Amino acid sequence: MKIALGSAGAHTEVDLLAVLVSEDELAKNGTVDELDAALDGALRRAIKDEEFTAKRESSLTLQTLGRCPFRKVVLLGLGASSKVGAPEIRAAAARAAKAANAEKAASLAITLRSKADADELQPAAEGVALGAYRFTKYFTGDRRPKKSIERVQFGWYHAKDSVKPSAEQKRALAQAEAVAQSVNLTRDLVNEPANTLTPARLAEVAVEVAKKHGLTVKVFDREKIRAEGMQLLDAVGRGSRNEPRFIHLTYKPEKARKSRKRVVLVGKGLTFDSGGLCIKPAPGMGEMKSDMAGAALAVGAMNAVAQLKPDVEVHALIAAAENMPDGDAYRPGDVWGSLDGKTVEIINTDAEGRLVLADALAYGRKLQPDVMIDHATLTGACLVALGTQTAGFYANDDELAETYLKAAKTAGESMWRMPLLEELREGLKSDIADLKHTGDRYGGSIIGALFLREFIGDAKWVHLDIAGPAFLDRVSALGPKGGTGYGVLSFLAYLDALTA
Ligand code: BES
Ligand code: MN
Ligand code: ZN
Repeated sequence: MKIALGSAGAHTEVDLLAVLVSEDELAKNGTVDELDAALDGALRRAIKDEEFTAKRESSLTLQTLGRCPFRKVVLLGLGASSKVGAPEIRAAAARAAKAANAEKAASLAITLRSKADADELQPAAEGVALGAYRFTKYFTGDRRPKKSIERVQFGWYHAKDSVKPSAEQKRALAQAEAVAQSVNLTRDLVNEPANTLTPARLAEVAVEVAKKHGLTVKVFDREKIRAEGMQLLDAVGRGSRNEPRFIHLTYKPEKARKSRKRVVLVGKGLTFDSGGLCIKPAPGMGEMKSDMAGAALAVGAMNAVAQLKPDVEVHALIAAAENMPDGDAYRPGDVWGSLDGKTVEIINTDAEGRLVLADALAYGRKLQPDVMIDHATLTGACLVALGTQTAGFYANDDELAETYLKAAKTAGESMWRMPLLEELREGLKSDIADLKHTGDRYGGSIIGALFLREFIGDAKWVHLDIAGPAFLDRVSALGPKGGTGYGVLSFLAYLDALTA
């Protein structure tokens, strides 16, 4: 997808024109007036007839019947201009791209409200690339999309046909491309079926990303996982022929500096979660190909970090395994050691995520991070608590929680702080080992978080239960059904806040 700056009005030669407009600007929008004149008053008439007021998420589509170079024009409502920020611009641009896909348009012009200020241009450019995303690699013949968006032009009222971007605009476009590509990489990984995306393949992708962008990478195979003492990751991975992997990606800024912050990002990488011996019921089991969304987020985020080069050291740790029933699988009643040293009594082999994360967190702690952030599709209970679109957010430090939640807001991702209720810790007491890994059914997401907390030492820590928003069975604001790439934008916004 090529992105340029230039005109985006009644005479622009493209397949589809989309105009971003806020409620208070609708009546006096220059581009709307210009289009209305070209269409002999049909646009203002349609606005009136359809009672279009440019509310957030609203749109109005009109045929141009040969009066403009494009077949259709779409007005995209932004809501009240006082409330328009990056998330609104990003989502509206994504809707423009979705409309272009639906219209089989190869070129798209988008009219912005400003003269493409960087803080409007960047989310807009992210939005189109995210909205245009489709997972089509397994379609053949007629199912393959015949056209995709090749050219996007961002413009404003009375812009010249072609405009040379300023240095700042160039940077905004380059950053947007890196960010959107990374979110789409996360989506690709989440959507990829488990027969091809095995732990070994996930490690290969991490290595490819590292090679392409100059990151350091270490991969532990089963033998090395055992030798290192990651007994919990080994236990979970035992039941599958697709052997587990532990992946460690590192980004270090070029110039050495002592006071620089160090962030460890941990991701749950269950390439498939059948439940193991405590096997899941068939309906919905297929969705468990997405149980590596935390890992996919970590790979995507590192892909972006390597290009954005923030002044912070970032380590991504991925515990990848496949949870399967088998003669060699771990069982309920087993007791396993862990990298941390604590012993764990296994209650339910379907609570595998917290086990692989425990070893990854214990490894992360040794890197002496300023903050450790894990993402995991950890519990169905979190979906019950918060619905499908909001992640459960846990933190053991209020200031960190505030910074992270603020970053998530600018990223437009929904998360809700959950309590680490001490009274539920009781449920993790085992009669024969240091810990058991599940307690009561009630408070399931919190209990998962409390188990993880046992392995972080005194690190400042954020845990995100992304079981809901990582994979959706309906279209989302920024993309189609399936893997959403949730969490990458918030993490990058957090790094921004950390280095500001
Ligand atoms: N991967 C699942 C959680 C999940 C459920 C993610 C639905 C996305 C959608 C996790 O490994 C799991 O099976 N959790 C169990 C924990 C229970 C056995 C304590 C659950 O939520 O039922
Ligand atoms: Mn499970
Ligand atoms: Zn799982």
